[in-house]
Amino acid sequence: MSVHPFIEENQQLIADFSTTQDVPFYAYDIDGLAQHINQLVNDDIKLWFAVKANPLSKIIKTLAGQGMKFDVASSGELDQVLAQGVKSEHILNTGPAKSLAQITHFFEQGVSVFVAESVNQLALINQQAKEFGVVPSILLRVQLRFEQDSDNPLGGNELTPFGLGSDEWKEVDLSHYQHINVVGLHIFQWGNMLEADALIDLWQTMIAPLKSLANALGFELSVLDLGGGLGVPYDGDDRKLDWETLKEALINIKIQAGVDELWLELGRFAVAEYGYYVNRVVDVKNNYQQELLVMQGGINHLLRPAITSQPFPARLLRHSDSPSQLFHVHGPLCTSLDKLGTLALPSDIHADDTLIFSQCGAYGFTESMPFFLCHELPAEVIVSQGTVEVIRPALPAASYLF
Ligand SMILES: Cc1ncc(COP(=O)(O)O)c(C=O)c1O
Repeated sequence: MSVHPFIEENQQLIADFSTTQDVPFYAYDIDGLAQHINQLVNDDIKLWFAVKANPLSKIIKTLAGQGMKFDVASSGELDQVLAQGVKSEHILNTGPAKSLAQITHFFEQGVSVFVAESVNQLALINQQAKEFGVVPSILLRVQLRFEQDSDNPLGGNELTPFGLGSDEWKEVDLSHYQHINVVGLHIFQWGNMLEADALIDLWQTMIAPLKSLANALGFELSVLDLGGGLGVPYDGDDRKLDWETLKEALINIKIQAGVDELWLELGRFAVAEYGYYVNRVVDVKNNYQQELLVMQGGINHLLRPAITSQPFPARLLRHSDSPSQLFHVHGPLCTSLDKLGTLALPSDIHADDTLIFSQCGAYGFTESMPFFLCHELPAEVIVSQGTVEVIRPALPAASYLF
């Protein structure tokens, strides 16, 4: 097991805190996060945080403090970001389901940058722009098809609801939308990319068709938004993207595309590494000659392994010299889908031991399915300079059952 400085340094603190908790919890390394974001933010590429990755108030405040802007995809995300003191001019709205009510709410709150994902969205935004007497900046979200195909969570070459193909956009006469200012294009089809060369290749391949689309539509391409997709390694993977390499490539792409601004909306690359999920072993058993752990929390708190088959890396919180062996790690729900992975852990693991899962800062609790079987909701805490601060306490089922 590789050395993990944050866990090494805070092992006792987390262990002590976990004895005060009856429920699993998320712990965030907020100082490490601030430092990481500080290294990402720069003058050449505008960075937006995809709030869906982690909408916790303290995470938003920390990112805002480092100069990050915010990509929100619902009224809930918008209200949460505004409640943390972020100004509406630092907010961008993406997402395939923009109802009239949602668009109106965004205008009421002063948001003026939208990614339009359909012709209907363009029409609704144009209509509300007239109503509110403002001229929002619009990026059209484009889906391209590439020779290289892959099985990818964001769809890759698959038909998805995210944006429209070039041919479909080319049918649109932008002169019919007089109340908006179309400034750029948005494209994002591949998630969790871990090979810098492949990612840079994809970005490069997009430039020519996107420039040609802007040309055909008759607007000046001044903003290019390449979305997210920068990956982080999950269990069994040791690849890691180097930001400086990507940044250099992005600066070249900005020049080649001839745009004034290049944007990225980072989700997991911004926050995944700075979050941990601390979870207790309820039972250990051997069944059909295999070792199983049953944990207090499973996909009700941490869904992602069930939908991607990628376990979060985990280790035993206490020290153990016992050799590792494979354990099938299950949660408390009545479905075999509730599995956090098959993980190598010390063989002396026992009930009441604590596991700590890493890379959980992104797509953790809010991506999960917390209500099934009426278990508790996990707490979320900040660990900083020898202290633990509870931001969101654990809540019993009674808090959400009617
Ligand atoms: C529009 C948009 N931008 C950015 C992201 C963030 O992606 P990632 O976590 O891969 O950086 C997402 C994630 O689904 C998204 O839908």
